[in-house]
Amino acid sequence: MQTRILSADADGYAAAAGIWRAGGCVAFPTETVYGLGADARDDMAVARIFAAKARPRFNPLIVHVANMQAARELVAWSDAAEIVAHAFWPGPLTLVLPLREGAALSPLVTAGLPTLAVRVPGHPAARDLLAAHGGPVAAPSANPSGRISPTEAGHVLAGLDGRIEAVIDGGACPVGVESTILGLTGDPVLLRPGGVPVEALEAVLGQPVGLRAEGSALTAPSAPGQMRSHYAPGARVRLDARVRQAGEVMLGFGAVEADLNLSPSGDLTEAAANLFHHLHALDLMEAAGIAVSPIPERGLGRAINDRLRRAAAPKG
Ligand code: TXA
Ligand code: MG
Repeated sequence: MQTRILSADADGYAAAAGIWRAGGCVAFPTETVYGLGADARDDMAVARIFAAKARPRFNPLIVHVANMQAARELVAWSDAAEIVAHAFWPGPLTLVLPLREGAALSPLVTAGLPTLAVRVPGHPAARDLLAAHGGPVAAPSANPSGRISPTEAGHVLAGLDGRIEAVIDGGACPVGVESTILGLTGDPVLLRPGGVPVEALEAVLGQPVGLRAEGSALTAPSAPGQMRSHYAPGARVRLDARVRQAGEVMLGFGAVEADLNLSPSGDLTEAAANLFHHLHALDLMEAAGIAVSPIPERGLGRAINDRLRRAAAPKG
């Protein structure tokens, strides 16, 4: 298969929507990372996402829609959902809510769960594209399973060229880490840290957001994509490093000497935007290891550390 590179304009969106209608897969930019999209109502199309990514089947997918009304047609809405959606949509927030009967989505999307992860992305290309398509689009990050998430069209092609119909080239993703996933099937619970800091969610909800216990057998099935080695680059990753050791390249944060620096000034938003980009670039240097500076565990630092811990986990 020849993967087409489509422009981020009306012609490109029309071509992508045509591919979706015909059951194909198109990668597209969101504010977080590039997604690999297919029509969420089309079983074969959704299956092709898993095939292209070689993704384990038990990972449910996030459904992307153009606006809040479209989301409400798919899930059982709630007061808490209304509050956070008003505050953060369109934007890097995914809500997990009970799947509505008659939503007519492929069961592959939810991996058979009675809940659905849904979001309204804020990137103008994603919004225009979803409007052009007019239906729900299932989209995991557009990387082969277990590899680093793509934040540029070139990253998508490096992993998936020849395996998908097209990619829309909309430049670099401004946020650079995936959406925050908030579980709202009971008391609010953080299923994945991401582009919206949990502190901001707590502020609008006026109540604490529970943290999912790391590696807990009870809670693991609720976010099956949270496998520890999910974000592994080829090299061994060593966290909380002050200096590089023999054979290592250094990913810095703050005023340190490094091969690449997430943010020399110590800005966590800048660091998030650079994270996958720098990991890709360091991985290409084919060093034995990547040493990473300590990152503060607050705001977007939580999402960055979550990704880094997965990158550092022993590969299984
Ligand atoms: O920023 C993002 O969220 C990007 C862009 C493309 O939108 N997408 C993304 O998708 O990160 P993906 O498939 O790489 O990660 C989706 C995560 C997985 O960890 C999956 O287990 C979880 O969402 N998830 C999906 N449906 C779920 C559900 N019903 N309950 C709990 N977790 C769910
Ligand atoms: Mg992913």
